[in-house]
Amino acid sequence: MPLVDMKDMLGHAYREGYAVGAFDLVSLEFLEAILAGAEHQRAPVILSLAESHFEHYDFELAMAATVAAARRATVPVAIHLDHGASYEMAVRAINLGCNGVMVDASTLHFEDNIAATRAVTEMAHACGMPVEGELGYVAGVEGEDAEKHPGEVVYTSVEEARSYVERTGVDFLAVSIGTVHGRMRGAPRLDFERLANINATLGIPLVIHGGTGLTHEQYRSLIAHGVAKINYYTALADAAGDCIRGNAASDARSGYTGLMRGVRATIQAEVERMIELFGGAGQATAVLTACRRIVPVAHVIQYNVQDTDDAAVVRMMARGQEQLARIPGVTRVETGWAVQGELRYRCCWLIEFAHKDVIASYRDHPAHVAFANEFFRPIAGDRLSIDYQLTTSMPP
Ligand code: 13P
Repeated sequence: MPLVDMKDMLGHAYREGYAVGAFDLVSLEFLEAILAGAEHQRAPVILSLAESHFEHYDFELAMAATVAAARRATVPVAIHLDHGASYEMAVRAINLGCNGVMVDASTLHFEDNIAATRAVTEMAHACGMPVEGELGYVAGVEGEDAEKHPGEVVYTSVEEARSYVERTGVDFLAVSIGTVHGRMRGAPRLDFERLANINATLGIPLVIHGGTGLTHEQYRSLIAHGVAKINYYTALADAAGDCIRGNAASDARSGYTGLMRGVRATIQAEVERMIELFGGAGQATAVLTACRRIVPVAHVIQYNVQDTDDAAVVRMMARGQEQLARIPGVTRVETGWAVQGELRYRCCWLIEFAHKDVIASYRDHPAHVAFANEFFRPIAGDRLSIDYQLTTSMPP
């Protein structure tokens, strides 16, 4: 299951001088194409889900497919929330299976950006997950995503970047040095001097948004100056659009599947082209060796109840499912009754954590403490609680 620690993944890219492609997906075609491209190039890859795209698909359903796809991949994969706009969305993303989140508070004033980002960083780190922050502003110019990023470009200040990273604790920083979201208009001009200063000052993996439309030389220079993650979407969407228009032109009566013919292969080809340009081709094995795996934990509680009836237990279970599922890092909450009547324990909780760090943060979380003390422990004195790492490949 090559879902790997994203901090390790980008640390490897940063040290070894290449960038991991973070490709935004908006459909199953994109998901399959991005992973097929990474497999074919034997490259690490980041599957990005941008909050601004959630109008095009159901985040929860897309995450189920994305997690399943990552689990069966043979190359190292990270699943990333792109441009998360709130603390609540960051929690939701982690609880649905993202193992990295971006908090985009870049349009806020500096101090407000720091406060919003720090809150997300504290939460995510307690779940064992890294965070990407953004300082400065990458505006949109033209193309599908441009209107999602209105306004003017604001370049990242080196001095602010130092203070921002120290005070927020972000693991990666998205910088604004002249790229734009969507299509480039005219020849792209990037401020490499600024980027070099930011890199020398921070020494952490840097991220470029607006990866579409740069020259080969520019991609190489970005990477040489500390960029370890390049976000890339518009060119994939445009290539898919061209393919669909071609299908429509060659057969005006095409239905859905006819219009979509070749779309996956088209996206895959563009993904592979960029992976090669970013230098990630052939890095899969080294990354798998260098990175910790993301291994979920099952928090299993078996218990018996006393001094209460089954209807009250059902109500307690429903309340727990509701309240515990909202705690950061909790990916699943199930309750159960023993099928056979005469076993040692009659009831259970199966609670899944995204990472072993969640064992401690969950235990101390006020929602867990309140539920356990008020509703669970008073009726379930007879219980057994064990945390299991859910893997067959790693010994304890
Ligand atoms: P492009 O759409 O310009 O490739 O940028 C993608 C991006 O930055 C997503 O966060």
